[in-house]
Amino acid sequence: MIEKLTNLIDNKLREILSNYQVLNESLEYGLFPGGKRFRPLLLLTILEDLQVDVNLGLEIACAIEMIHTYSLIHDDLPAMDNDDMRRGKPSMHIAFSENIAILTGDALLTESFYWITKSNISDEKKVRIINLISKYVGAHGMIKGQVLDINSKEYTLDKILEIHQHKTVDLIACSILSAAIISDDEDNIWYEIASALGKAFQIKDDLDDADKLDEANIIHAVGMQRAQDLFYEYRIKCLKMISEKLGKGNTYNLVEMVL
Ligand code: IPE
Ligand code: IPE
Ligand code: MG
Ligand code: MG
Ligand code: MG
Repeated sequence: MIEKLTNLIDNKLREILSNYQVLNESLEYGLFPGGKRFRPLLLLTILEDLQVDVNLGLEIACAIEMIHTYSLIHDDLPAMDNDDMRRGKPSMHIAFSENIAILTGDALLTESFYWITKSNISDEKKVRIINLISKYVGAHGMIKGQVLDINSKEYTLDKILEIHQHKTVDLIACSILSAAIISDDEDNIWYEIASALGKAFQIKDDLDDADKLDEANIIHAVGMQRAQDLFYEYRIKCLKMISEKLGKGNTYNLVEMVL
């Protein structure tokens, strides 16, 4: 199932890419071969588990992957994390140039909203999803998280969890809450799931980055043992909520595999 959904996402992203006459090479470099495709897969597995046609969520899933890709291209820039490598290959600003990396990110973010307008759901749902995504990735959401990540005065556990809430939870919440809107299944539990899942996801990423500890890494604040304990707590919490809401289906399997 995950493989089938990954192919669906990759094929749609290829189709999206075929529309551009500028930045084609850098857009392709950023989107392919891609990473885990976790955020678009999450949206589609929730639709599957709720027995809703996954094609209704495909453009939105790809739009969220485009936003994720933009966030990583800009995150790696010299003015941000200054990372030369991403997914085992040179980061965008190394493979191309800094100006092309900035512009490719700008294009991915803006074009993502265009593709949401092309999805096969009602206009009312499109507006609600555009409202949701702009709120969660903008200055109240993911960007706020990135600002706090680089600009906080002290990195206590509470501050780090606030950073995770925005830089990571908020984009994951876009996938989960969009699936809820598409499925007419609105329930406060969705944000609770996103919150625990996103925290577990970012703590795992911090644990994987243990050899290049930056100030905002949770290990820096609480040490390795406590960071691992927190990871397991959030992981168990989110899997429990997912199994209560959706059973041990595709979403459960995806999250269990990624976390
Ligand atoms: C990396 O996200 C950035 C974080 C928020 C931790 P992913 O781990 O989903 O990156 P890819 O897309 O699989 O490479
Ligand atoms: C990235 O967090 C979060 C966003 C891009 C919003 P990190 O800086 O920890 O991600 P990696 O480790 O570079 O993938
Ligand atoms: Mg960063
Ligand atoms: Mg980084
Ligand atoms: Mg990291």
